[in-house]
Amino acid sequence: MARKPKAGSKAGGTGNGEGELPPGQRAARGYLRGLQNYGDPDFSVYLRRAFARSMGYSMDELSRPVIGIANTYSRFNPCHRHFPELVDAIKRGIQSAGGLALEFPTISVHESTMAPNSMKFRNLMAMDTEEMIRAQPMDAVVLMGGCDKTVPAQLMGAASAGKPAIQLIGGPQMTGRYNEHRVGACTDCRKFWVEYRAGRMSKPDIEAAEGRLVTTAGTCAVMGTASTMAAIAEAVGMTLPGTAAIPAVHADRLRAAEATGVAAVRLVASNITPDQIITQKSLDNATRVLLALGGSTNGVVHLAAIAGRLGLSLDLHRFNELSDTTPVIAAVKPVGNEFYMEDFYAAGGIGAVLRELKPLLHLDCLTVAGETLGERLQSDEALWVDRRVIKPASDPVEPEGGLVALFGSLAPDGAIIKRSAATPSLFEKTGRAVVFSGLDDMNERVDDPDLDVTENDFLVLQNVGPASPAAMPEAGFLPIPKKLLRAGVKDMVRMSDARMSGTAYGTIILHIAPESHIGGPLALVKTGDLIKLSVKERRLDLLVDEAELQKRRDVWAKEKRPLPDRGYNRLFHENVLQAPQGADFSFLVKGGGKSKA
Ligand code: FES
Repeated sequence: MARKPKAGSKAGGTGNGEGELPPGQRAARGYLRGLQNYGDPDFSVYLRRAFARSMGYSMDELSRPVIGIANTYSRFNPCHRHFPELVDAIKRGIQSAGGLALEFPTISVHESTMAPNSMKFRNLMAMDTEEMIRAQPMDAVVLMGGCDKTVPAQLMGAASAGKPAIQLIGGPQMTGRYNEHRVGACTDCRKFWVEYRAGRMSKPDIEAAEGRLVTTAGTCAVMGTASTMAAIAEAVGMTLPGTAAIPAVHADRLRAAEATGVAAVRLVASNITPDQIITQKSLDNATRVLLALGGSTNGVVHLAAIAGRLGLSLDLHRFNELSDTTPVIAAVKPVGNEFYMEDFYAAGGIGAVLRELKPLLHLDCLTVAGETLGERLQSDEALWVDRRVIKPASDPVEPEGGLVALFGSLAPDGAIIKRSAATPSLFEKTGRAVVFSGLDDMNERVDDPDLDVTENDFLVLQNVGPASPAAMPEAGFLPIPKKLLRAGVKDMVRMSDARMSGTAYGTIILHIAPESHIGGPLALVKTGDLIKLSVKERRLDLLVDEAELQKRRDVWAKEKRPLPDRGYNRLFHENVLQAPQGADFSFLVKGGGKSKA
């Protein structure tokens, strides 16, 4: 049943959207919302209107519901290069529904243009988004995101800001052609690079491939982090139904943008805020979709961060329960070796996945369309599905979820493995650790012909977790040493406290918590130690006795790890939480800033 408007209810579902207005101004809506307090309310109205009229708006326009458009267009973000056209379509929708569309910029974060890595700036973007939604006079907001960190940052910020919000996804790239290969970023980028490192691809060939991998606007063409987060945004109820997977350059994407503008105006009337949509139940639904897609491991971190903004959690033991009962049903790269996001959209998209998972989902969850998930699924039951790409739940790609959390003496607070993109013959194995103390150490030694390593060893990378100077980069896809690659080794067990691109693959254990930089057990591993992995038992154990570990702990505790001296660096490293808490800042989590005294 569609949600009725809540007459007179306050705008901020979390209580902070309007609660900061001075007394006497709490009824203000639209452009007069959140007036500055000069001690003379009429003067505040007069001054704000004077500037608004300088932009040519009529009084009729200024009296309409104001819909902000958080636009993340940037020439440093190639994935968003089509956003100007999308903004026009959103504005059309807002205006046709009787709203006033006001676009504003926020930080934009792209994967390949941010140093040291984009994850370091997700929380900054979330803070920017939250504060601009709260501070500026808007009744609802359209969040334009796409590239990996942008969608979680916007959902985190909007959840905290508490005003009605709707996400518009930028959409994935179309595939390109390199010689006889159909290619798309960035699973194919990695495959070609492995071939080049193994000496099976020449320098001119890799340079030619480089120019063919990304040929349209949009986000990576596979089920990487961007497409996973788009799917999560739709599954949790924050996008219009059927819009997450539309390719960036498809005309349906423009229609989705226009419809999103219309829906944003309706959200003002219904006053549905993110906290009514993002609930423990809808997070379960989103987790099931993540698992059924064999989606990006980054999705686990981002979901935990979104949950934390509303006082909810993504418990990794619950995650495993859901994983055990959710089949992988989408064969989109890096799962399988054939299909891309454009195929997934044509095959039926997220709607087809949700219909297959229907018996497992909480159907009473509300969406930004004002209907429940159950109502949405009823209305498109008869749609065609390409079963090569989206399998029936009764005949899945894999009977269990694509990701699983591991626990044990090496990961007391958890770690993640993407089993759907790993090698099953490596799942139950004890190996000798070959340890790299950080990225520089790995760069220096991994290809050394004298490195003592075999395919049966476990490569271990330390000091790449959230609080480390590296700030949790996507370095978890540790390179297989060249000498093993050239001998034909295709996969080996690799582990770290880093993240991994959603487009990557291999038997790779990530997000080990607590991380090594703050003294987690990973910091104590030495080359030659034995590590036992059991995906079946969900275990990751360091087979070193406690007395020896205590000696190593004592040595570790004496080493100095100074904090950065100022600025965002300082803020980041003083406040970032561990991966199971979403690597958000402690003071941004709901209730996180409360004094413990
Ligand atoms: Fe933007 Fe992959 S780099 S989505």
